[in-house]
Amino acid sequence: MERTLIIIKPDALQRSLVGEIIGRFEKKGLKIAGLKMMELDDLKLEEHYAHHKDKPFFGNLKKFMTSSPVLLMALEGADVIKAVRIIVGSTRPIEADSGTIRGDLAMTNWNLVHASDSLETAAAEIKRFFAEDELFNYNKVGWEMVYEEEFNKEL
Ligand code: PPS
Repeated sequence: MERTLIIIKPDALQRSLVGEIIGRFEKKGLKIAGLKMMELDDLKLEEHYAHHKDKPFFGNLKKFMTSSPVLLMALEGADVIKAVRIIVGSTRPIEADSGTIRGDLAMTNWNLVHASDSLETAAAEIKRFFAEDELFNYNKVGWEMVYEEEFNKEL
């Protein structure tokens, strides 16, 4: 199944929203394949946000993302990239739909979470932040009630 990378950003950690955010992904039925806490540095951010390096906000983004540790998650599920981006909501929280993490909980460029935008990006982003032995394959109890194909496998 597909995997995607989530960064739970410093605003979420400081505002005690980590449990709320992880809970939303868990309740959707996604599997946590990896989870850890890390302090990002400028080098890692320049790699991760390379496509924004020349944007006027890049200095502020680095300052914000290094202001406290972040949590990194690899989430797994069918169509997980699409599912997660719907749960997360639009990049600009003020335009994000109600019911999404950003729409419900954020107001500005500080948008609580980063989520990979494609399969290709997800693979590169997971590799950037997780070593092979930090990612876990395991059977998740109840998955057969989330994914029809998992249920059918057991027949
Ligand atoms: S652009 O120019 O439209 O492509 O940029 P945008 O999609 O709006 O933002 C890209 C990512 O940069 C983050 N960002 C910021 N973070 C902190 N402070 C400031 N001022 C800031 N401006 C932009 C924005 O949240 C996006 O992060 P990700 O992790 O991709 O959601």
